[in-house]
Amino acid sequence: MTASSPTAALRPHAEQSFADELAALERADSRTRPPGWRLSPWAVTQYVLGTTLDDGTEITPKYIGARRVVEVAVATLATDRALLLLGVPGTAKTWLSEHLAAAVSGDSTLLVQGTAGTAEEAVRYGWNYARLLAEGPSQAALVAGPVMTAMAEGRLARVEELTRIPSDVQDALITVLSEKALPVPELGTEVQAARGFNVIATANDRDRGVNDLSSALRRRFNTVVLPVPATVADELDIVTRRVADLGRALELPEVPTSLAEIRRVVTVFRELREGATADGGAKVKSPSGTLSTAEAISVVTGGIALAAHFGDGTLRPADVAAGIHGAVVQDPVSDGVVWREYLETVAREREGWDDFYRACREVSG
Ligand SMILES: Nc1ncnc2c1ncn2[C@@H]1O[C@H](COP(=O)(O)OP(=O)(O)O)[C@@H](O)[C@H]1O
Ligand SMILES: [Mg+2]
Repeated sequence: MTASSPTAALRPHAEQSFADELAALERADSRTRPPGWRLSPWAVTQYVLGTTLDDGTEITPKYIGARRVVEVAVATLATDRALLLLGVPGTAKTWLSEHLAAAVSGDSTLLVQGTAGTAEEAVRYGWNYARLLAEGPSQAALVAGPVMTAMAEGRLARVEELTRIPSDVQDALITVLSEKALPVPELGTEVQAARGFNVIATANDRDRGVNDLSSALRRRFNTVVLPVPATVADELDIVTRRVADLGRALELPEVPTSLAEIRRVVTVFRELREGATADGGAKVKSPSGTLSTAEAISVVTGGIALAAHFGDGTLRPADVAAGIHGAVVQDPVSDGVVWREYLETVAREREGWDDFYRACREVSG
């Protein structure tokens, strides 16, 4: 599917990569579509979770997880409340938000990236100063931000990392979400949201307290928590599929991916994250990094590139060892100790892990 993508962009938007799937769903979708939506809520959910359509079109799963989570998220977008995806890093908040916007609006690009420096212009509008000076305030001099554009066109706007945005800038969203209108006092006008407009925000659990949402803003959102994969098997499924997708998208040479090797990466990350071994429940220390599913995907993909270009074409322990070391040892001193202890007390003793233990020892010197 991605191979036939019409564009050579390094990272096409979801609506570009999956244009064929979205078109097939649009044809097959006979259910009621909320005003301004490109697909019905049912079809959006099928797009996200994957299915095979009656005409044989394969819809690939994007988000791998509980159907109910996706249904609640999609249903929220069809109401007058906005959607807040909450979770620890690497739980696919950004990923899901992009796919929801692509499926609902056919456009995932109306995006505000939340940082401490996000200014009100990003949420509202700014000015083309050359024009403003030459002509004074006019419609032509106004530069709409992504939220304003989404309102005017009746699409979804995405706000990434909402809680990193300073509170006074967050407050600009309150009017937008409650009044569904954005006043432009300089022109004596306002932009009224067209039907189909809504907002998907993401926020990191770990940022809680950075710029907590005001209660006024929180009330405008329905919060959906994206969970960490519950079991090794679930996480293994996510990593295996995403690694295969990524390998195709990056056109990496085919590498027979050893499930055992992927399982090992997932196991190491889970054990370090949870602070206990999967088999005996023996305590291990946790390093400072998050070691999320997303990082496991990166480590395995990096390993495949190594194996393809410099190895014997099979994913080996040595191909993932450097990636794991890099992900685990963020702080060279304290994480280094944690990692060495894990290697000596857990990896060394485990049956079938000799090669892996040696490869990791070699990297950590
Ligand atoms: N449950 C999941 N289903 C599908 N992909 C997942 C899942 N969890 C993590 N990922 C993958 O992890 C990567 C990073 O996710 P991302 O959306 O950036 O995380 P977040 O925004 O929550 O920090 C994405 O490539 C995504 O495909
Ligand atoms: Mg994110």
